[in-house]
Amino acid sequence: MDIHIKRLAAKLAPACLALIVVANYAIADFSDEALQRAVDEAYAEFKDDQRGENADYIPILAEVPSDLFAVVIATRDGKLFTAGDIEYRFSIQSVSKPFTAALIMNQQSPEVIREKIGVEPTGMPFNSKLALAVYEQRSVNPLVNAGAIAAVSLVEANDEAQRWELIHRNIEGFAGSELAILDEVFESEYSSASSNRGIANILFNDNRLYADPEESLRVYTMQCSIGVNTRDLAVMGATLANGGENPITGERMLAAEDVPELLAIMATAGFYDESGEWMFSAGLPAKTGVGGGIVAVVPGKFAIAAFAPRLDEAGNSVRAMEAIRHISSALGVGVFGANSYD
Ligand code: DON
Repeated sequence: MDIHIKRLAAKLAPACLALIVVANYAIADFSDEALQRAVDEAYAEFKDDQRGENADYIPILAEVPSDLFAVVIATRDGKLFTAGDIEYRFSIQSVSKPFTAALIMNQQSPEVIREKIGVEPTGMPFNSKLALAVYEQRSVNPLVNAGAIAAVSLVEANDEAQRWELIHRNIEGFAGSELAILDEVFESEYSSASSNRGIANILFNDNRLYADPEESLRVYTMQCSIGVNTRDLAVMGATLANGGENPITGERMLAAEDVPELLAIMATAGFYDESGEWMFSAGLPAKTGVGGGIVAVVPGKFAIAAFAPRLDEAGNSVRAMEAIRHISSALGVGVFGANSYD
């Protein structure tokens, strides 16, 4: 063989090998069957788990049928793999919080979140007033109630109607579907919101709230009362897995360069005082809500959402946590490597 051809072949060989490896990895990534099997197994394994209690500090949440259970994977190319009660609509609650943080990143910047709210995990419950006293930043991060109420107040809007419109439309954009407030949930929560009202007033007093306290509380409560099903949550997560673009509608919801900052906050604070335990066992950025929903993101691949109303002491859904952990470890998709939880 001509010496030049040999040299060329020697130069190209590593590149060819790399291409073959990448192609094989893509094929071996996850087949549709593997994703559906992971969902089915997680559903079957935890379907009859009775641990935990419905939230009842928001009275109407105690009335949601406790045995409901759904598991969904939504991929970054818009495929859905489902099991269980995937049509049931429940209140989004705190799962809404990172998405309003994303709206502020869009309108302003991730830096504004760091400066005006904070990005430290509290290691304390989601409604802690102690955290407000201990940390100089007060609101601490946008995923606890204080930081989430502050986030609502930070949205640039001319009045309350526009504030709500922007937040509502943003969450619909992430879900790729029209979403309505569950009126009974809003009534129940807003009429028993003294704790969050206290938090809003403390923040306002300390110059860490950026709009009228009652307006901020009301719009925050409306945000938490939005009705979603488990598929909506999965698509919201898949939008983050897809670098900020909704894989179903194609709408860009967050700049790709801002997604890592948002996922970092979800990884460190998404489960409140259980965030360390969650990352240790599941290895995925995620967000929970007292309605029983959880969404976890496998960056660049897919999202896993699950819903089950019974919660543990920290306010996180027992079966939703178990199901997502099971899928994360079965598919080996923890962000630091495969977690071997069982
Ligand atoms: O403000 C509250 O207490 C509720 N609207 C949301 C709390 C929540 O979902 C905590 N998450 N697990």
